[in-house]
Amino acid sequence: MTVSSAPGKVYLFGEHAVVYGEPAVPCAIERRATVSVTARDDDHVRVEASDLSLDGFTVEYAGSTDDRPDVDVPAGLVEAAMGYIDAAVEQARDAADAPGAGFDITVESEIPLGAGLGSSAAVTVAGIDAATRELGTTLSPEAIADRAYRAESAVQKGEASRADTFCSAVGGAVRVEGDDCRRIDAPDLPIVVGFDGGAGDTGELVSGVRALKERYGFAADTVETIGDIVRTGERLLDPDADDSGAGVDAADRIAEVGDLMNFNHGLLESLGVSSRSLDSMVWAAREAGAHGAKLTGAGGGGCIVALDPTPETLTALRFTPGCEEAFRAELATDGVRRLE
Ligand code: PMV
Repeated sequence: MTVSSAPGKVYLFGEHAVVYGEPAVPCAIERRATVSVTARDDDHVRVEASDLSLDGFTVEYAGSTDDRPDVDVPAGLVEAAMGYIDAAVEQARDAADAPGAGFDITVESEIPLGAGLGSSAAVTVAGIDAATRELGTTLSPEAIADRAYRAESAVQKGEASRADTFCSAVGGAVRVEGDDCRRIDAPDLPIVVGFDGGAGDTGELVSGVRALKERYGFAADTVETIGDIVRTGERLLDPDADDSGAGVDAADRIAEVGDLMNFNHGLLESLGVSSRSLDSMVWAAREAGAHGAKLTGAGGGGCIVALDPTPETLTALRFTPGCEEAFRAELATDGVRRLE
């Protein structure tokens, strides 16, 4: 058996705009998906996921992932998660040049599905790493990121950026602009996550932004302004990258990162991807004294990310109607982790 895990992430800045070539800065967090893979003697794939749905599920199919029966998989988000597992299996078969390989796969995840914390990227990254290693091929984290991106693009019909998959594969804070992906040196940030218990439909939300952008020139300007926020924010996070932040106190820089997150949230809201519960959590965090707060990921429901070194935001979120769970998130410095 081969076992790999990969982290989820929050977006400090830049989701949605990254789809149009603007930069984005996601940051990996210590909430992981773990995928265990055992090669089989036949070409069947059997997937067991105890915590991807309330009851968990097991599905088995033969040969090509195209042959997987829809009926055996719980609907909605879990069906979508199965799409990523199928795509990861195809990538592993291709990477190891073993088109007929079969696997028993177990997926465990601490990351809520479709909530803006990169659950699908984490499952895809850990799945490709474990399945290729099980077949005797070891890929670099960058090569896994590339294959995971191709897998996500296939599932999301081309509307995916490299941000989630690269961040999950290499860990830490990263900067992604088109095909240019690299790690950046970010300080340890006091990240707090609020989760409304729901999820957004990434495909629909991305299409909504596209429609708005095609209809109104100023929506295209909004996307570019998000890019400007990212370019300003990344210099605050890593002032050594150029000399712009030299001499500015670290706490002041984190406070300014918070201001920019607020700005970024306002623009995402104007692009139609926030929701009442996301806005309530953002406001609760701001009123509790957070440096800043914004939705993370595709939006529509799911999670917000706030910066607050004190316990105030965490406490306030736990009492906010519409917030189902709030937790402090550690930066994950490791990306894909090889456990067995
Ligand atoms: O909700 P998530 O974690 O899948 O993030 C989606 C981020 C988008 O920018 C909206 C799409 C993408 O692929 O970058």
